[in-house]
Amino acid sequence: MKFTVAIDGPAAAGKGTISKAVAAEFGFAHLDTGLLYRAVGAVAADTGRDPAGVAHTLSTDDLARTDLRTAATAQEASKVAVIAEVRAALVDFQRSFAVKPGGAVLDGRDIGTVICPDADIKLYVTASPEERARRRHAELTGKGDDKPFEEVLADVKARDHRDATRDAAPMTKAADAHLIDTTNLSIDAAVAEAARWINEQLSKARA
Ligand code: DC
Repeated sequence: MKFTVAIDGPAAAGKGTISKAVAAEFGFAHLDTGLLYRAVGAVAADTGRDPAGVAHTLSTDDLARTDLRTAATAQEASKVAVIAEVRAALVDFQRSFAVKPGGAVLDGRDIGTVICPDADIKLYVTASPEERARRRHAELTGKGDDKPFEEVLADVKARDHRDATRDAAPMTKAADAHLIDTTNLSIDAAVAEAARWINEQLSKARA
């Protein structure tokens, strides 16, 4: 049975954590679509190749790079993600993943709006820029990186702005997405709210 859960929202709002937890709880496969853009951005930056060409030939080795989670790669990802041809090259892979038998969760920026407009469940997970920067800053500090809070906040805002104002599939909440604002929620409470919403929709669908 196909069952698609689309989870969108800005960086560090908690959508990755929620997606993983939902996938584990309901037994769905999970695709972090940001990794696709991160891999394209990292390979293009390293090799100077045309990002669209990289997206067309993206390999499992590219997706296994160890630098995909860095802040520098996040900015490269956001830059290549504005290119319509890059996005177009990644559509089929994401849509095939979404119809995996047994269900699938995809998280990103345009899943509920462009990739899977007919998803069974749509969530939009957000939080204030300051709270998201606070989380990122704490994460970096934990890794021994002493980047000042103001710089982390500026990065968060720059990426939000680029992702939300691009012409091709901008980050936005689908009209039928359920909003979860995690600014004042613990991780457990945010995951519980997502699971509550999914269970509610599942029981409605079965009724
Ligand atoms: O979710 P993330 O932080 O790993 O995403 C990195 C960048 O990739 C993000 O700033 C914009 C882009 N992206 C996108 O445009 N569409 C998606 N579905 C996922 C990510």
